[in-house]
Parts: sequence; structure tokens; C-alpha cells
Amino acid sequence: MISDRLFTIREEGDSLLILDQTLLPHQYATRHLNALADAAHAIRAMQVRGAPLIGITAAYGVALALKEGASNKALDHALQTLAATRPTAVNLQWALARMEAVLRPLPVAKRRAAAWAEARSIAQEDVAANRRIGEHGLALLQHAAAQHTPVRVMTHCNAGWLATAGWGTALAPVYAARAAGLPVHVWVSETRPRNQGLLTAWELHAAGMPHTLFADNAAGLLMQRGEVDLVIVGADRIAANGDVANKIGTYLKALAAREHNVPFYVAAPLSSIDFACADGLRIPIEERDGSEVRHVGGLDRHGARAAVALAADTTAVANPAFDITPARLITGIITQHGVCAAGKLRSGEQTSPPSPGKGMGGRQ
Ligand code: MRU
Repeated sequence: MISDRLFTIREEGDSLLILDQTLLPHQYATRHLNALADAAHAIRAMQVRGAPLIGITAAYGVALALKEGASNKALDHALQTLAATRPTAVNLQWALARMEAVLRPLPVAKRRAAAWAEARSIAQEDVAANRRIGEHGLALLQHAAAQHTPVRVMTHCNAGWLATAGWGTALAPVYAARAAGLPVHVWVSETRPRNQGLLTAWELHAAGMPHTLFADNAAGLLMQRGEVDLVIVGADRIAANGDVANKIGTYLKALAAREHNVPFYVAAPLSSIDFACADGLRIPIEERDGSEVRHVGGLDRHGARAAVALAADTTAVANPAFDITPARLITGIITQHGVCAAGKLRSGEQTSPPSPGKGMGGRQ
């Protein structure tokens, strides 16, 4: 939670209150989640989205499910229902595995309270991890500031507080920079087709952070012109070899960054790392409905929500929601434990944060 008004998810009695992100940036509205089906729907329909927030909502979804009874059958049903909501963000499975490990050994009578407590811990730990990510990322921004101020950070999708329980991942260093008085300007990629960049622009505006929205295809030109000091994106799943699944379009930005010597960072908590997955090509990529590409939504001239058809309903569409950025294109991965070369991830404690020297900091 950022403030009483700006939050993604919070407990209200034995229910949850979420910010419905499908209505942003045009409408701010909250919704109650009262039961397992509500939580599963919220994740599937992307009322809540972003890898860490998906995991947190799933954890709370288990708690909601156990309101009606906490038998093994009820627990199994909750875990299976939530696991099937979205395939790519590993934080979902991570959170469900953690809930199961805590709840399964307990007597049925103790499970309900334990489920709420564990979901709350997962949310609180997310906020703490993101703060640390912000501190480690701030060192990189301070290093880049030696070359140019304001530091010009490009991001993709939304990996801000909206995607987490607080602060965000890729945007945590930006918020930390603001707190430290370091001038930063954020290049915000629109992120077709779901346009999560509009969420990023909305939250940066709310925070009073300078930013510019651009159409995804402008990223290469901006880097070519030397208008980007570094790129920071989030992750939905990081494979053991450091390959990263993130929102579709991330890979093209990493390629352009390599061509133009712009450092390319991925910011993510350890819960986004899947050490059981050897490399990025084994990460399941969510294929979403073609209507997201064929239509675009927004406000009409009267300010009413409207969807406009861009293509005929008969047009064949491919809509992969994520892509894989190979570890070799990633300058470093920022976790709560520090900044680590993408190819040097290891389970357990991460490598200690390197000083942002050659290969890790500003433009070389
Ligand atoms: O489909 P979404 O909006 O859930 O995808 C979100 C992303 O791809 C984010 O970049 C990623 O989850 C990192 S969020 C901290």
C-alpha cells in the first residue's frame, strides 16, 4: 500500500478490497473480493495484474476459499482453481506453494487464521523487497547521473506499485531517486495491446514524477538518439540461466538497447525467479484473446468508456502476452539482495551488490 487511497489490495474484515485496474487510467474504482471465485476472476480478468500482485492475490484467494471450510478437499480446490488463472508469472505458483506448505500440515481448525496470516506476510514481504530493490536500483541511477541529469529511464509495461503490494519493482528505483532528490525522467512505453504503459503514466502522474508516454515502436529511435540512459523493466518469470519472461515487447527493447549500448536492467523479487526452469524457452507464454489486438478501448468524445474495432473480427490475430529476453542481453538483475549478472543467478542468497562499475552502471 502506498497510502490509504493508493493501494492495490487490502484486507477488509474477512474480504479483500482491490483497485480494479481494468478501469484505469480513466476511472478509479475499487471492488470487494469475497470468495475464491472472485479472486480467481480478478486475476484472470486482470483487475489485478503484475507478477507480484498476482501472487499476493492468489495467496489471499486461498484465505477467502477457506472461509467456507478448510478441509483438504477445499484446499486442493482453491490451489487448483487459482493455479489455472494465468500461466506465465511464476509468483502465482510460488505463492500457492508457500500457502500449501504452511496450511497442509495444520489441523483443519487452524488453517483459516493461518491462511490470512501467511497471505499478509507475503504482501508485507513484497513491500519490503521492493524497497530494497529501489535502494539497489538507486545506486545505478546515481551512477548514470554522472553522465546526464535528469537520468532518463525507459520502462515497459507497468512494474510500479500497481503491479505489487507497494513501490513496484522497475519503478522502485525511480521512486527511491525522487526521495533522494535525484532528478529522473521516465520514458513510458505504451505496451500494446493491453496498454499497461497507461497505468505507468497514471501512477507516475499521481506521484508527480516527470514522464513521457511513447508508442512502443519509438523505443529504438529514442535509444539511437541517445535519449535513454538506461532501461529498467520488471519480470514475470526469470529462468535459472537468467533468461527473462516479461511483457511482450521487452525483448525488442533489449535488442535495441544492446545495439545502442544502453544498459538494460530487470528488477524483480526472488519470488519471480524459477530455479526449476532451466531456460527461457521452457517458460509457458500466455496466449490471450485476439479481441485485445482487434479492438482498442478508451473514452469517447463524451467521456464515456468505448471500444473501437481496429480490425475485422475475421482477421487472424496472434496475441502472445509475454516474450523472452535472453540473459546475454541483460546488464543486471536487481533483486532485494542486490544487482547480479543475469547469468550468475544462484538459488539461496544472491551475490552481494556489485558497485555499479563497468558493465553494470551507466552507458559504457
Ligand atoms: O499481463 P500483466 O499486466 O500482468 O503483465 C505484467 C508485466 O509483464 C510486468 O512487467 C511484470 O509482471 C513485472 S510487474 C512488477
